[in-house]
Amino acid sequence: MGMIKAGIKLFSGMGDLIFMKGVFYGVGVGPGDPELLTLKGYRVLREADVICAPKSGADREGVALSIIGEIIGQKKEVLELSFPMTRERAKLEPSWEKAAGRIIGFLREGKKVAFVTLGDPTLYSTYTYLLKKIKQAGPWAVETIPGVPSFCACAALAGIPLAEGEEKLAVVPVIEDLDTVRFVCRHFENVVFMKVAGKFAEVAAVLEELGLKGQAVFASRCGLAGSVVKRDLEEVEEGHKDYLSLIIVKKVAQGG
Ligand SMILES: C[S@@+](CC[C@H](N)C(=O)[O-])C[C@H]1O[C@@H](n2cnc3c(N)ncnc32)[C@H](O)[C@@H]1O
Repeated sequence: MGMIKAGIKLFSGMGDLIFMKGVFYGVGVGPGDPELLTLKGYRVLREADVICAPKSGADREGVALSIIGEIIGQKKEVLELSFPMTRERAKLEPSWEKAAGRIIGFLREGKKVAFVTLGDPTLYSTYTYLLKKIKQAGPWAVETIPGVPSFCACAALAGIPLAEGEEKLAVVPVIEDLDTVRFVCRHFENVVFMKVAGKFAEVAAVLEELGLKGQAVFASRCGLAGSVVKRDLEEVEEGHKDYLSLIIVKKVAQGG
C-alpha cells in the first residue's frame, strides 16, 4: 500500500484508491503541568473524536487523562484502557492486543483517535507498543505528537542544566541491574535515573560508593499535586518515593 496523504487517501496493492479517514495520534501531554501541553497536542485533542488514556489497574486514575481533563471538556468520548503494572511481556501482550483492537474499531468508523501519554510518547510509553500493533493490523494513518519529557521538566524545576558543552547525558530506567548504575555514572557526566522509586535505597548506596550522592537531585510528581524536589537524598522521605520519581546525577558540581 502506498500512502498519498496521511489519513485520507491510500492506494491498495491493485492501484485503486481507498478512502480511510481514521487517524491514530499519540499525544504527549507532558509530565504534569497542563500548560506544558504543546499547541499541536492541544489542537489534536480538541479535534479528536475519541480520547484514549492508559490506566494501570481498574482502580487507578490515569495521570495523563487527569492532566488534560480541563482541556477536553465534558462532551468528548473518552475510553480508558487498562494495562497491568508489570514488566512481564506475557501479561502485557494481551492488554496491548485488546487496546489496539478497540482503537482499530474506532479507526474503521473513520474516527480520529488520540492516545494520551505522560511526558513524551516515544519514551518508555505504552504508546509505542500500541503503535506497533496498530501498524501491523493495517495501513492506518498515524501521527506522534511529542511532549515534554519528565526529566526535562524536573531539571527545570530543580534549576539545573541537564547537560552543557561537550557533556554526555544518559537516560536509564532503574530496573534490577545496579552494575548499569555504576557503569553510566562512570562514563557519563550527567545521568537521569527513571522509575527509581522501588530502587531508591540501592541507587543512593551506589551513588554514595561512587562519591556522587551529594551531586544528585531527586524529583517526584513534577507539576502534579505533591510535587517534591530534593537536592539532598537524605531528605527524601518514604512518602516522596512515588512511582513518578526520578534522580538526576551531575558529576560536574553545580555552583549557586
Ligand atoms: C513509564 S515512564 C514514562 C516516561 C514519560 N513518557 C516521559 O516522557 O517522561 C514513567 C517514569 O517517568 C518518570 N516520570 C514521569 N512523570 C514524572 C513526573 N511528573 N515527575 C517525576 N518523574 C516523572 C518517572 O521516573 C516514572 O517512573
